[in-house]
Amino acid sequence: GSTLQEAAAQSGRYFGTAIAANRLSDSTYATIANREFNMITAENEMKMDATEPNQNQFNFTNGDRILNWALQNGKQVRGHALAWYSQQPGWMQRMEGSTLRSAMINHVTQVATHYKGKIYAWDVVNEAFADGSSGGRRDSNLERSGSDWIEVAFRTARAADPAAKLCYNDYNIDDWSHAKTQGVYRMVRDFKQRGVPIDCVGLQSHFNPQSPVPGNYQTTIESFAALGVDVQITELDIEGSGSAQAESYRKVTQACLNVARCTGITVWGVRDTDSWRASGTPLLFDGNGNKKAAYTSVLNTL
Ligand code: XIL
Repeated sequence: GSTLQEAAAQSGRYFGTAIAANRLSDSTYATIANREFNMITAENEMKMDATEPNQNQFNFTNGDRILNWALQNGKQVRGHALAWYSQQPGWMQRMEGSTLRSAMINHVTQVATHYKGKIYAWDVVNEAFADGSSGGRRDSNLERSGSDWIEVAFRTARAADPAAKLCYNDYNIDDWSHAKTQGVYRMVRDFKQRGVPIDCVGLQSHFNPQSPVPGNYQTTIESFAALGVDVQITELDIEGSGSAQAESYRKVTQACLNVARCTGITVWGVRDTDSWRASGTPLLFDGNGNKKAAYTSVLNTL
């Protein structure tokens, strides 16, 4: 294949990117995005603060803009994210307990219903586990609303959009030896054993020199897949440049290819200048839209 999406399709996988609605009018950006990628994640536009700015008043304008651009161009869409401790609207940040629980359930229902039948996979719950050595849950208003909030969110999403795959998504769960990875693994195993609807695990995979691609990355992917879920790399970016960055991108791509249930890779932006890592160069295209060594490395590995 001569593009990332064509090359990934040779093994039945997709290759995606995060899109920001306000950049779609940039023709360099839109041209690269349309040519190279066939799975689209809204970088911010489907999050809780964007879709429910006031309680029970939903705004799908920018989320729909991305969804429609994707569908009109023959792409699939990954929904991101229904329930998360971060990027909550102010009214939700101030909520606790059963009031919050009801508001969360309503949010999941309304958003998943609005997009019903159009989403390949939802990140139902994002970043619910703590960093560090505990392997436990992150403290948040959602966690304090009742530790079953995650399975409640998954059951609610399944009821609203039965066709969408339902994923748990997190960062720093790439290294199999980390307590956080093990904590998420135990939750997914428990959900599968008890019949809580979960179809996939998303490894965000934001890498940098302090947190490089772990040597056991493929073991992590294989281990989750062995629980009977698909695995996707959902927000890939790797700080660095040149051949070292290209080699890291190769390792990530090869690890996914080596596991049948690793079904696709999404990078978190198009050009380095589009990245949320404002000062870095973590993506596959430079600021002028030129293909980097990392791009060629991924393309040749797929
Ligand atoms: C980031 C966006 O890229 C930024 O534009 C925004 O300011 C903050 O969120 N984990 C996630 C993503 O799941 O939603 C985050 O996206 C990056 C970390």
